[in-house]
Amino acid sequence: MSFVEYKDIIQNGDTAIVFLGHDSMFAIKVQQGGATQTKYGAIKHSTDLIGKRYGSRITCSKGGWVYILHPTPELWTVTLPHRTQILYSTDISMIIMMLELKPGSIVCESGTGSGSLSHAIIRTIAPTGQLYTVEFHKQRADKAKEEFHEHKVDHLVTVKTQDVCKEGFGVTNIADAVFLDIPSPWEAVKYAKSALKIEGGRICSFSPCIEQVQRTCLAMTEQGFNDISTFEILLRVHDVRTVSLQLPDFGTGDKNSLDKPADTVSQSKGKCCTDSQQGTIQFKSGAPVKEMAGHTGYLTFATKYLS
Ligand SMILES: C[S@@+](CC[C@H](N)C(=O)[O-])C[C@H]1O[C@@H](n2cnc3c(N)ncnc32)[C@H](O)[C@@H]1O
Repeated sequence: MSFVEYKDIIQNGDTAIVFLGHDSMFAIKVQQGGATQTKYGAIKHSTDLIGKRYGSRITCSKGGWVYILHPTPELWTVTLPHRTQILYSTDISMIIMMLELKPGSIVCESGTGSGSLSHAIIRTIAPTGQLYTVEFHKQRADKAKEEFHEHKVDHLVTVKTQDVCKEGFGVTNIADAVFLDIPSPWEAVKYAKSALKIEGGRICSFSPCIEQVQRTCLAMTEQGFNDISTFEILLRVHDVRTVSLQLPDFGTGDKNSLDKPADTVSQSKGKCCTDSQQGTIQFKSGAPVKEMAGHTGYLTFATKYLS
């Protein structure tokens, strides 16, 4: 199992995703002789998982079932053990696109944190790129290294345990892009500039507070970055549901005449139906969900031109 290559069959030592539903999934390490408890009962790794195909529906000991999925960076983001706050797919997708990452890209990142963004970057730059990720918290750096090894992507990433604001990324003029998710990104901007290729590249900084953004923009300007722009990315989810509305009664006494407009819609578009017994009309409607995830942070992007 590797996070950058799909394979069919579940094997001993794999990281796999136990999928109970879109709001309920978790990651496991498949181990000969191991067992995992779920609300539907136990899954025995040797008999239920090893040798089965990824995507299989597995019946648990109490009769309920789960799906076993091959891991992806997106699934890892929603199942990984949190050591820090992490970036989620909404921000990650914008970061990958706006930094123009592709197979072969060289990227510098700090801090590594829980490795949520790192996995997405690694999948994008594989098979020939390299991620240099800097994390000054030793246990976090060590845990990230261990996970990259388990996920068979360690050849695509170099983890450095140092303070990026004092020692930089440890590389000079090789990066296509730099990403910062640290409390004081403005202190690391000059190191980002020296890590980027002579011919230029892109930088992105993630900060929850606008005061951090202001200081970072100032530092980017002082270091000669161009095209500085800040975004806030909000994901607006819509629910599709069936709506029932009471048919209006205009008091004519002729019930059939009231059904006419709705029946006409039903025939012409096939999206609407009436229940004249009940005096209601039913149709499918898409509407934003009442509660949505709000502010995560601001993404500030800029370009270093050939100097
Ligand atoms: C919010 S977390 C990063 C989360 C990461 N982007 C993810 O998606 O999992 C910030 C990390 O930056 C590290 N950090 C903060 N300041 C740092 C610095 N000056 N040098 C290196 N790492 C730093 C922290 O220890 C922490 O682990």
